[in-house]
Amino acid sequence: MKLTPEAMMKGESRVESQESRVEGRGTPDPRLQTLDYPLCTMKILVIHGPNLNMLGKRDQSLYGSKTLEEVNSLLQEQGKELDLDVVPFQSNHEGTIIDFIQSESPQAAGIIINPGALTHYGFSLRDALADTGLPVIEVHLSNIHAREEFRQKSVIAPIARGQISGLGWQGYTAALKILAGQVKGI
Ligand code: DQA
Repeated sequence: MKLTPEAMMKGESRVESQESRVEGRGTPDPRLQTLDYPLCTMKILVIHGPNLNMLGKRDQSLYGSKTLEEVNSLLQEQGKELDLDVVPFQSNHEGTIIDFIQSESPQAAGIIINPGALTHYGFSLRDALADTGLPVIEVHLSNIHAREEFRQKSVIAPIARGQISGLGWQGYTAALKILAGQVKGI
């Protein structure tokens, strides 16, 4: 089909207007502007101190029958429901726990910790936790206040938001629910 000069003119203007629409796509719509940092799920560190790798084998009347792996997977499942990334860690060594706290806390929103026996004398652990500036919840499977005198004192408690003691593995899930509310401000 032969185009009249007018039709060609119209065609040209059509091309021009298409180009200008294409160019227009590159212009950010202020209503659709995104954050200049990636949206990511908040991290909660769940730290277990010495001997907690033996859960399930340790005195079940004090510490329950669940293994550490079972407790951690329950928390990770709960974390998904709360839109939180639960990062579990266990070590029998205070320095290794401190190294973990120092390297991971800058990317984390909060900490749940069962410090095991370090609860009662772990001053460097306490300092490392305090240095993070993050909300910390201390958890104990057994009721440390109803046990030997040396267990009734926690050097961690004064720098923690709170302590949950004596409620078994449910102490961890309660701590995660509470911490989720606190870090999300709800
Ligand atoms: C514990 C209590 C501590 O006194 C003890 O040393 C533990 C476990 C608890 O979860 O009840 O290892 O932290």
